[in-house]
Amino acid sequence: MSLSLSSYFEQARKNASNHVNILRDFRYFLSSIGIVKSSIVLEDDLVLSKVKEEAVKDFFFKYLIGIPLDYILNESSFFGYSFYVDKRVLIPRPETELLVEEILSFSLEENAKIIEVGTGSGCIAISLALLKPNFKIIASDISSSALEVALLNLKKHKPNNLLLVYSDWLTYAKPSSIDLVVSNPPYLKLTDPHLSELSNEPVQALVSPGGTKSFFDISNQAMIALKPGGIIIYEHGCFQQNEVVGVLKESGFSNIQTIKDFQGLDRIVYGYKC
Ligand SMILES: C[S@@+](CC[C@H](N)C(=O)[O-])C[C@H]1O[C@@H](n2cnc3c(N)ncnc32)[C@H](O)[C@@H]1O
Repeated sequence: MSLSLSSYFEQARKNASNHVNILRDFRYFLSSIGIVKSSIVLEDDLVLSKVKEEAVKDFFFKYLIGIPLDYILNESSFFGYSFYVDKRVLIPRPETELLVEEILSFSLEENAKIIEVGTGSGCIAISLALLKPNFKIIASDISSSALEVALLNLKKHKPNNLLLVYSDWLTYAKPSSIDLVVSNPPYLKLTDPHLSELSNEPVQALVSPGGTKSFFDISNQAMIALKPGGIIIYEHGCFQQNEVVGVLKESGFSNIQTIKDFQGLDRIVYGYKC
């Protein structure tokens, strides 16, 4: 027998002590499957169609075992654009939008050549490509399954100035050819306690040996690939700033600047190749 919408709200309320955002997320989910707003607000006795009821059951099953809402919806919002996401890629984080904002604030050439390394869903590279159609952008990843997701997003948004590449960081780039390298690389140590909360996301997107190896590797390769005056910009973990600044200095970058996120935590660093 089909249950009414109000019964499913009861089910959500019963789980609210262990899942504090379940009501908010359930409402969002219902609107994503086309339930009218008045039924959601009134939590009325609407009887769901078979297909929608199956979708609601699926929501509860996944949500209660801890699958993030964006993976359940297969959708994530980034910089005002909608991106397809699933467990093959990291869910785009709001802090990462700061990377895009910062890049837009730089005085780059109209047709600047940009590389994003570790593109995941493609959210950074695709947003930049859409906002700056004259930029020439290459986005790479070493995970072929992440690249499949980036390709879906490329087809969805259709920028014509972006190329996806399978690569270990930016080994394919020609020396002194690039204006800017951007990356939100994996930066957690394997022992980081936050990893247990992130168990649904791909470990390759999160973990780097010692937490900083990715910054070493990318910085050394970027120093070769960037033109003189070129910029490297990173997102990093909130307690990693000194280490990442050290890596940039060691790789030969100068005029290093740091930026805090919305919570006042150190989050972004950039520097220049002389
Ligand atoms: C933290 S995620 C960032 C995803 C996306 N750019 C974002 O900000 O949401 C890091 C990405 O780096 C990729 N990655 C890890 N090691 C790599 C390597 N050696 N070369 C290229 N990409 C790599 C992972 O597969 C993952 O997609």
